[in-house]
Amino acid sequence: MDSIKVIDMLRKGIILVVIVAFVVNAANAVEGMWLPIMLKKYNIEQMQAEGFKLSAEDIYDINKASLKDAIVGLVRLSKPFRHFCTGEIVSPEGLVLTNHHCGFGAIQKHSTVENNLLKDGFWAMNKNEELTNEGIGMCLLKRMEDVTAKVLVNIPDGADAYIRDSVIQSNIAIIEEDAIKETHYLAKVKPFFAGNEYYLSVYEIFRDIRLVGAPPSAIGKFGGDTDNWMWPRHTGDFSMFRIYANKDNEPADYNDENIPYKPLMHLPIAIDEIKKDDFTMVMGYPGTTEEYLPSFAINLRANVTNPARIKIRTEVINIMKTGMLTSPEVRIQYSSKVAHKANGWKKRIGENKGLVRLNAIEKKQEQEKLFTDWVNQNEERIKEYGDIFNNYEDLYGQLNEYQFVYAYFNESILGTELIDLAGSYSDLFEYKKESNNEDVEMKIDDLTKKTKNFFKDYHRPTDKKLFVALLSFYYNDVDAKYHPKSFSAIDKKYKGDYEACFINLFEKSMFNNPEKLNNFLNNYSVSKNKKLSSDPVMKLFIESMYVYHNSVSPYLVSIKQDISNLHKTYVKGIRELNSDKIYFPDANSTFRIAYGKVDNYIPSDAVEYKCFTTLQGIMEKDNPDIFDYDVPQRLRDLYKSKNFGEYANSDGTMPVCFTASNHTTGGNSGSPVLNADGHLIGINFDRNWEGTMSDLMYDPEMCRNITLDARYILFIIDKYAGAKHLVNEMTLVKESKQNPQAIKKEKK
Ligand code: ARG
Ligand code: ASP
Repeated sequence: MDSIKVIDMLRKGIILVVIVAFVVNAANAVEGMWLPIMLKKYNIEQMQAEGFKLSAEDIYDINKASLKDAIVGLVRLSKPFRHFCTGEIVSPEGLVLTNHHCGFGAIQKHSTVENNLLKDGFWAMNKNEELTNEGIGMCLLKRMEDVTAKVLVNIPDGADAYIRDSVIQSNIAIIEEDAIKETHYLAKVKPFFAGNEYYLSVYEIFRDIRLVGAPPSAIGKFGGDTDNWMWPRHTGDFSMFRIYANKDNEPADYNDENIPYKPLMHLPIAIDEIKKDDFTMVMGYPGTTEEYLPSFAINLRANVTNPARIKIRTEVINIMKTGMLTSPEVRIQYSSKVAHKANGWKKRIGENKGLVRLNAIEKKQEQEKLFTDWVNQNEERIKEYGDIFNNYEDLYGQLNEYQFVYAYFNESILGTELIDLAGSYSDLFEYKKESNNEDVEMKIDDLTKKTKNFFKDYHRPTDKKLFVALLSFYYNDVDAKYHPKSFSAIDKKYKGDYEACFINLFEKSMFNNPEKLNNFLNNYSVSKNKKLSSDPVMKLFIESMYVYHNSVSPYLVSIKQDISNLHKTYVKGIRELNSDKIYFPDANSTFRIAYGKVDNYIPSDAVEYKCFTTLQGIMEKDNPDIFDYDVPQRLRDLYKSKNFGEYANSDGTMPVCFTASNHTTGGNSGSPVLNADGHLIGINFDRNWEGTMSDLMYDPEMCRNITLDARYILFIIDKYAGAKHLVNEMTLVKESKQNPQAIKKEKK
């Protein structure tokens, strides 16, 4: 997300280089995120040997309804197309389950101090009560195709990287256009295996998505940031939405006349007891993994960028949390912001610990040694791969400094909300006297909306502290040659008192003053651009972008491009070296399937974690004095009366979460976790802290995904919220022996 932010700001012309690819031994079942169109070839036999009862076509088929037709990717309509979470359709009327933290932004937007949906929860008792959510979309995968040959056609022999890339880009444009002719679909071609292969995905994107239900945050976010990334876990991390379509069952903008979407397929929910070692499968949109980086890259991440980001965020989170204690309003305003910051912060801490524990750098070095030995076996290989590690070393040696500044630039400059807001206003500089009035008006409307949204979640005293702290980090830690020009006043005017300087910049800016900004927008004409450019925060934005464009990004982009070219070769070599192994491509926000089993783990010496948690654990954590563990009275009462309906285990306990060995990553949140029959048994929402390095190096002993048990979801909807009508919409299955195909037919 952070890198996207910078790319957003830079907008045109810069290529985001994603380093992809990894290798796995087929015997190592749990590692890997597999392509639905390759299951038949690579995975299905093994999946079936491990208990899966369906066929590859039951998962993915373009001629008949298959499980993929029940899985949605969540996207932000105003941002570049990228899934931020996954969800699954669980009723014939387009009802979708996803995580509470995936719907958090939407729930928070509907919340005020008087009507606090975050705190109290929300349940639409009928369809008229469902709430619209501008800007959120859900997409269905229509099909996927290997288009490698078509993408790599017409590349002249001996073409340099630049020519090669432009031919590839134009081939991709043609393929994408062809793929959606005469449809309302969207097509995306992405590189896999570091650009050794290319696949096309075609999506249908629904734009009218309504909020149907969310538990109170004391359930949906139970354990908060304290328990986040941790096991044992008791978070009821779910929320419900409904997809609306036009009368032809096609995507449409929000409209009163829209009707609930009728899916080709919805997932039946199994309410059977779950046991250790049961087969599990996760479907959805994992965002990014980088399993096949060389040791130099791991070093950069573990020793340069992670520590930088952790350091800055520690302070940011402290300041936000202190602000949130001042009033219930500030708590709402900063809850989503702090959750977002804290999530990445804790992930990186866990990741670094995991990398150290695994000796990841040494392990990579050993692999590199094996690779070198293999290369040295013959002349051809020496020609093709002989320089790889020298080149990597040289390039990463250069990259370290720029990547460090980039991390600071993202976290502290663009992490400063006022500078980010000023960035949106900087679009106005594109207008000249002769500009089209309509365009200008549209921009002003857009900025007016943005400004209103911004101040809904703005607390000036908190932001002032953040502003000073974030700029101080940049000032103190980043070499002066990367400082924005305004920093020169620190020595000249403020005798080194940088905080005084930043406070002054803050006070003199109009960007923290909604009245001034509205006044500016209401009376806008291009002649006001001069005034705009002299605002101290706008100046900081412009100067920082100038530094970034001139002294950072050209080097960063070119080094990363060189690394990416090298990486393509390296990954090719790895696959050649291990030609008997089956490889999975790194996650890249395309549809994937992971499989494993319900499993426990040993986090440290003498400690063993079981794989199930129950409601009893919630009661053990219950503490009204700790915000994250303040259990709602109604849940305590239900626990006491053991009013669990048909959702309890046979021993009478109420299941909450479980761990399994599916290889997942960010973006897999909200993903369905299915059993051997393809029935929903839970929603994926997290990983264990000891396993968060799985984005770079997977450890089958330690890496677990954390799933919210479907039965707890049903219990909360039915018994806690009294929204049984929603459960009635779903298809519950008691005996896993039932055939899902039969259910599908019965439901049609
Ligand atoms: N760690 C999970 C993920 O990466 C859940 C994050 C939301 N929860 C939170 N307390 N911030 O998305
Ligand atoms: N919590 C993550 C998500 O939001 C999942 C993970 O990183 O394991 O996608």
